[in-house]
Amino acid sequence: METKVFQSDQINQAAALLRQGELVAFPTETVYGLGANALLPESVKQVFSVKGRPSDNPLIVHVTDFSMTKEYVESYHPLTEKIVQHFWPGPLTLIFSIKTGSLSPVVTGGLSTAAFRMPDNKKTLSLIEETGAPLVGPSANTSGKPSPTTALHVYHDLKGKIAGILDDGATQIGVESTVLDLSGEVPTILRPGAVTKEKLEEVLGIEVPLDKHLVTESETPKAPGMKYKHYSPDTPVLMIKPADWKQAIAWAEMNNKKVGLLTTPKIADQYRSADRFVFADDTIEAATRGLFSGLRALDEAQKADIIFAEVFPDDHLGLAYMNRLKKAAAQNYFAEK
Ligand code: TXA
Ligand code: MG
Repeated sequence: METKVFQSDQINQAAALLRQGELVAFPTETVYGLGANALLPESVKQVFSVKGRPSDNPLIVHVTDFSMTKEYVESYHPLTEKIVQHFWPGPLTLIFSIKTGSLSPVVTGGLSTAAFRMPDNKKTLSLIEETGAPLVGPSANTSGKPSPTTALHVYHDLKGKIAGILDDGATQIGVESTVLDLSGEVPTILRPGAVTKEKLEEVLGIEVPLDKHLVTESETPKAPGMKYKHYSPDTPVLMIKPADWKQAIAWAEMNNKKVGLLTTPKIADQYRSADRFVFADDTIEAATRGLFSGLRALDEAQKADIIFAEVFPDDHLGLAYMNRLKKAAAQNYFAEK
């Protein structure tokens, strides 16, 4: 199959393919999604096979506005309106209890809840509108690889396997949305993202806990997708704490290891290395935007024996960055042996 790349004046062509049951990847503010019409179970099944995704991992239903969720949702948490008004469109996925049979079990993984999100991307909102149905959209990468933040990343992983990609350049945020469970009494963060725990608490005026597995690694995550190893390039990744850079670089030199650097300019300026992916500036926002892109670039250059990646404090957006980086590094920090 030829994978077509669509520009903004071709949204109607992309929508026509989705209506026919084909798969079309779409841009969002977080990462690119692998779109299928959420109301066509046969198309949704293809999403799993194209990605190599485990079938017990439910999908996010992407909508154009809050009212579109009403057809499927059984009951809303009392804080829903406030949350939606504040954070939609945006990088926040909400889990609600759904009406029995309103969505295919292929979408929900057979759960009595489902995930909904209104992405902050005009082209994708028009695409959903023109399709006339909500779109499921897991990240548009091969399962286990870093999520795609450009149309080219999607093309690299899925060319020949999907009908099209709607191109909108590089995504702004760089990691997947926050997943907030609103199906129980206490709103709980199942996956950290750019709508941070601190921001949610400020707006809601209550404590918003993290799912147990985000605090204690041995706990089983409530979001099925969080239990899988993710974001792993083929080159091993080591996380480097601020005080350990000097030692880590010396260790690599002594052991003849070629290092690929994934760091802010502040660190990169101190160490010269053949392979490097330097974030646009020293902020956590720039690091988060560059994380998946950097892992892909360093991996594909294939010159490095090992990737050294910079760590950030585990709070605010740093919690989302570190959650993805820890998975990419299989939890490994550099420690002098
Ligand atoms: O930013 C994003 O969220 C991107 C863009 C494309 O929208 N999408 C994305 O989808 O990251 P995906 O499928 O890779 O991640 C969805 C996450 C998974 O961890 C899944 O297990 C969880 O949401 N999830 C979906 N439905 C759920 C449910 N009913 N209960 C708990 N977790 C659920
Ligand atoms: Mg994913």
